[in-house]
Amino acid sequence: MPPLKIAAIPGDGIGGEVLEAGLRVLQAVADIEVTTYPWGSDYYLAHGEMLPGDALTTLQRFDAIYFGAVGSREVADHITLWGLRLKICQGFDQWANVRPVKFYEGLNRDPSLDWIVVRENSEGEYAGLGGRQLSARGPGNEVAIQTSLFTEKGCERIIRFAFELARTRPRKHLTSVTKSNAQQYAMVLWDEVFQRTSRDYPDVTTDSELVDAMAARFVLRPQTLDVVVASNLHGDILSDLGSALAGSLGLAASANLNPDRVHPSMFEPVHGSAPDIAGQGIANPLGAIGSGALLLDHLGRPDLGNRVRAAIAATIKDGIRTRDLGGSHSTVDVTLAVIVRL
Ligand code: NAD
Ligand code: IPM
Ligand code: MN
Repeated sequence: MPPLKIAAIPGDGIGGEVLEAGLRVLQAVADIEVTTYPWGSDYYLAHGEMLPGDALTTLQRFDAIYFGAVGSREVADHITLWGLRLKICQGFDQWANVRPVKFYEGLNRDPSLDWIVVRENSEGEYAGLGGRQLSARGPGNEVAIQTSLFTEKGCERIIRFAFELARTRPRKHLTSVTKSNAQQYAMVLWDEVFQRTSRDYPDVTTDSELVDAMAARFVLRPQTLDVVVASNLHGDILSDLGSALAGSLGLAASANLNPDRVHPSMFEPVHGSAPDIAGQGIANPLGAIGSGALLLDHLGRPDLGNRVRAAIAATIKDGIRTRDLGGSHSTVDVTLAVIVRL
């Protein structure tokens, strides 16, 4: 087997700290060949762009992209995110964002809880359509339009993906997140596609929940959740809520998949660059390490992914935890503990 070719993009803040941890774990279980790219806010301040013009061509030859996080106090968030993370996700049509919400033993939560947020990752509220109009209206009268884009094909492919995933799980239940009471065009199309597609999956039970009620259900009735399919923005918000319920934003892993496998997929923790704790060596690396496990799954090595996940669970159970989980261990302590348990 040739080594797995991985492009690493540490990015900003704790992105580099957790990605280094994740790479050490990947190196401990798999034969990987890593090329690191310095793209992020410092690169932007030096070059005026988040990544070079031929970056997608460069990345295309890799088996996978492993990403830390971007976001800096020195560059506006919409520049960093549209210039890097969203450029890669949308440029490589990574239309399925898979975000498991995993509960662990030892954190005073019910470890039998386990659900997955499947987030539409190519359109919806992140279509980037709109503009600002200042001229002819004068100060204090500016108008901004941010338009969502929901296509029938875009809805169908993510909903079908979620049904296929639900089918592989013991509970075989899929919940659609909607807001079709207020958003009478886009989310009604979403609901119709969900209902139509469900007929192809008679083995999967379904229900539909308005997003506001879904936020409450995450907190109050999480045992009713299995696979949850949501639009881009709804999935973004619900995945942070899920990770907070499980114990910390630092735990959550994610995969930005191009299921068609025309382009490489990108694996990254759900959290951001956390400027409030960057540089202190205390970031929780488990979300990034878990994202490495998803990378191994995607590249045909779920056996290795499962080993990494078991080592994460054992590390938490043994009380080796960073501050966000109530512990006092460093990023490096937790990383080495995972490697020892591998
Ligand atoms: P954030 O996820 O960076 O941080 C939110 C809170 O969670 C902070 O208190 C932080 O300290 C804590 N936290 C996050 N990850 C942690 C970890 N691994 N260990 C311990 N604590 C952790 O979200 P934010 O503060 O809203 O955003 C900060 C910056 O990151 C912004 O610029 C934002 O745009 C960007 N961002 C980037 C990504 C990405 O690159 N994928 C994702 C989310 C936010
Ligand atoms: C995430 C982040 C991104 C998103 C931002 C950084 C654009 O919050 O990956 O969850 O909203 O998709
Ligand atoms: Mn988010």
